[in-house]
Amino acid sequence: MRAYRFDALNSLDDLALHDEAMPQPQRGEVLVKIEAVSLNYRDLAVVLGKYVGPADAGLIPCSDAAGVVAAVGEGVRAFKVGDRVISAFHPRWFGGRIPLTAAQDAYGSGADGWLAECKVVSQEAVVRLPDSLSFEEGSTLPCAAVTAWTALSGAAPIRAGNTVLTLGTGGVSIFAVQLAKALGATVIATTSGPAKAERLVALGADHVVNYNEVTEWGHHVRRQVTGGVGVDCVVEVGGPATVNQSITAVRAGGEVVLIGFLSEENPGIDYFHLKNSRAVVRSIGVGDRPALEDLVRAVTRAGIRPVIDQVFAFDDARAAFERLKSAAHVGKIVIKV
Ligand SMILES: NC(=O)c1ccc[n+]([C@@H]2O[C@H](COP(=O)([O-])OP(=O)(O)OC[C@H]3O[C@@H](n4cnc5c(N)ncnc54)[C@H](OP(=O)(O)O)[C@@H]3O)[C@@H](O)[C@H]2O)c1
Repeated sequence: MRAYRFDALNSLDDLALHDEAMPQPQRGEVLVKIEAVSLNYRDLAVVLGKYVGPADAGLIPCSDAAGVVAAVGEGVRAFKVGDRVISAFHPRWFGGRIPLTAAQDAYGSGADGWLAECKVVSQEAVVRLPDSLSFEEGSTLPCAAVTAWTALSGAAPIRAGNTVLTLGTGGVSIFAVQLAKALGATVIATTSGPAKAERLVALGADHVVNYNEVTEWGHHVRRQVTGGVGVDCVVEVGGPATVNQSITAVRAGGEVVLIGFLSEENPGIDYFHLKNSRAVVRSIGVGDRPALEDLVRAVTRAGIRPVIDQVFAFDDARAAFERLKSAAHVGKIVIKV
C-alpha cells in the first residue's frame, strides 16, 4: 500500500510517497481502507516548524480520515467488514482529563497518521460514519468540527439567544458558524475580504467584520455590534495577535476559548485587560471520543453539510497542502484516496 511521509520537517518538499507493507489487524484492531483525508492547519504547522507541541520527522501526516473497515482482528465487536468509519482525533481519550500520552499518540506529530491507502487502529479509535455523509464530508469532522463543538460546549454551553464570535474562514471557524447557528445563536464573524464575507453570510453569519478595514474589530464588535455588551463566546483560532481583541470583544462572564496559533506576531497579553474583562479563558485540545460521537449526531440531525473548499487526488497531496498554506480556502481541504 502507498503512504505519504514527511521524511524531514523543513518544507513541503519533504512530503514523499512510499510503498509499504499492508498492515494486518491484531486482536481488537480494525484495518481501514481509507477513502478520504482532510487537512488541518496543524498538519502544515508540523512540517513548517510552527507546531506548538513536539513533532517527529518521518511520520505519516494527518489526523482526519474516513474509510471502510476492510478486515477485523480477533475479538472485534464494535465493527464488521464493510462498516463506514471516521478516525477519532485522540485515539486514547475516552473521557475525563486529556491523557498524558496525548502528544505521543497525536497523529502526524507523535505517531503515524492517516495519509495512506490503509491503516490499522484499535476499534476504539474510530467511530461510525452515518450514511447521510459522504466519505469526503466525514473526513472533515474529527478535528475541526469537534474543536468547534467543544468550544461551544463549555460550562455554560451556547444556546439560543447567545452571541458567538468566530475568526476567519478556516475549518474550525466555519464549523463554529454552522454549529452556533444550529444552536440558535447570533454569529459575528471576522474575515479578510469581501468574497469570504459573502460566503459567511450565505452560511448564516448575522454580522461580518472585515478585519483589514476595521482593524480594531474587538472594540467594534463590543460597542457597535453588541451595543456595549460583548459576546458570550469567542472561538479564538488566531492566537497571540488576536487574543487581546478577543478579550475586548467578550462580555463579563463570557468565554474566550483558546484554540489556535495562526498569527505570527506575539505582543503579549495585558494582565489588567484580561483581569478586568471578567472573562473565562478555556484552552482546549479538540475533544474526546464522546465529543466526536455527539458532534456526528448533531451534524446529522441538524442537517449540517461540511463546507469543502476543494478535493484533491491522492497523487496531488502536495497541492492540497499548498492550498492550505495559501489561506485562500474557505472551510475544509480534502484528499480523495
Ligand atoms: N486546540 C485545538 O483543539 C485545535 C483544534 C483544531 C485547530 N486548532 C488550531 O486552530 C487554528 C485554526 O485551524 P484551522 O484548521 O481551522 O485553520 P485553517 O483552515 O488553516 O484557517 C485559516 C484561516 O484563518 C484565517 N486567518 C486569520 N489570520 C490568519 C493568519 N495570520 N494566518 C493564516 N490564516 C489566518 C484565514 O481566514 P480569513 O481570510 O477569513 O481571515 C485563513 O483562511 C490553527 O492554529 C490550528 O492549529 C487547534
